[in-house]
Amino acid sequence: MIVISFGTFDLMHIGHLNMLNRCKNYGDTLIVGVSSDSLNYEKKQRLPVFNEKNRMELIKNLKCVDEVFLEESLEKKREYIKKYNADVFIIGDDWKGKFDDLNDICTVIYLERTRDISTTSIIHNIKMYL
Ligand code: CTP
Repeated sequence: MIVISFGTFDLMHIGHLNMLNRCKNYGDTLIVGVSSDSLNYEKKQRLPVFNEKNRMELIKNLKCVDEVFLEESLEKKREYIKKYNADVFIIGDDWKGKFDDLNDICTVIYLERTRDISTTSIIHNIKMYL
């Protein structure tokens, strides 16, 4: 089974690692789409702290990850799932229900997020307390 997942994975933290390790339990191969810098700029009007090359390199070198690619558009999930022949699409439950339409080409699973950590909260804490 081929599993595909997506995310920005900026300032890689334990929530990201937990998510990807759990994704791998659903199949033999885990492919991860890492959102591009420009995609993040469009979404949040700021660039990630770590650039796309370094974020891809960090994710690619995790034991549970077999392959990474650059996700260049949020609207292309269907295209990427087909391109990589993914059987299962997994993402955090902050997206619950948002990708149900993709159930016609693969199994869509929303996993519970790790509590009390996010890139946004890390940036906030650094700004507030350091
Ligand atoms: N994720 C998770 N648990 C967390 C944070 C993220 O399971 N505590 C998952 C997300 O649900 C997603 C993947 O990790 O499937 C990548 O998430 P991303 O949005 O890049 O990380 P966040 O820390 O949520 O970043 P931000 O605060 O910028 O939204």
